[in-house]
Amino acid sequence: MKALKLVIGLLMFALFILTGISSSIAADGKAVVDAKKCGSCHKMQGPAVKTIAEVLKRQSPDLFYAGSKFKEAWLVGFLQNPTIIRPAGTVYVNHIKTGEKKDEIVDVKPCAAKLSKDEAEAVAKYLMTLKEPSMKTGVIVDENFSKAKAKILFTQKEACHGCHRIKADEGGVSCPTLYNAGARLNPDWIYDFIKDPMKYDPKIWMPKRDLSDEDFILLSKFIASMKE
Ligand code: HEC
Ligand code: HEC
Repeated sequence: MKALKLVIGLLMFALFILTGISSSIAADGKAVVDAKKCGSCHKMQGPAVKTIAEVLKRQSPDLFYAGSKFKEAWLVGFLQNPTIIRPAGTVYVNHIKTGEKKDEIVDVKPCAAKLSKDEAEAVAKYLMTLKEPSMKTGVIVDENFSKAKAKILFTQKEACHGCHRIKADEGGVSCPTLYNAGARLNPDWIYDFIKDPMKYDPKIWMPKRDLSDEDFILLSKFIASMKE
């Protein structure tokens, strides 16, 4: 009995130390975010802007719900070596130049973060603490779904690919590419966002759909399965 109590005591102590370490890494991450001025481009605190004029001025995506949106491992990689996610920039109308024959996309830059591995890990830990409190977790619990049904819904019925790229050379360019969404996005966030995009961004141009819960789950699983 005494030995058991000792073991439990030791375990509690280890847990206490580990929680302490992980929250101090998150604190270091916050210091890096401040030092690198991530907030000069990204909104690090809610709420989101509420007018179209403000959306049109947006330079880069909001990060104040990053901990609900992203997968931590993806953040660690991205922050060391950012790639382009929105082929026509954060607000595409600001990057379209009307050409004589066809319109051109101009002046699109990736995120300016270029962190070391240690910095990226600490910043990712910190970003993971920025949660949307109303988001339900544990909604998308498995990866089983009918790909054929999902494709019909995504492509034919709802035409989601009109705005989103689903392969490197297939789909629209006016918003984030989805072909690597599985590595990037938390499936529960995908569900919460597509159900009501305006909850996260009141004046965003992604239309709100009136679909059954089953269809939202199907779309979320389909998007979460894109890992190209
Ligand atoms: C000069 C402006 C600028 C600065 C400074 C900057 N970023 Fe970015 N960041 C961007 C832009 C623009 C994008 C959108 C890239 C895309 O979609 O292709 C972006 C994208 C991101 C994304 C992905 C967001 C999403 O919704 O897809 C994350 C995460 C991110 N930045 C984190 C950071 C962090 C952390 C820092 C500070 C270390 C930082 N950024 C500094 C401009 C900036
Ligand atoms: C009219 C264009 C448009 C259509 C059609 C559209 N979306 Fe979007 N979508 C957007 C915009 C704009 C955003 C947010 C842009 C941003 O974060 O920069 C977005 C964001 C998303 C995101 C989050 C991606 C990310 O990385 O931030 C998902 C997931 C998504 N849409 C799924 C869908 C699905 C599923 C459909 C079809 C039911 C759909 N979209 C139809 C414009 C569109």
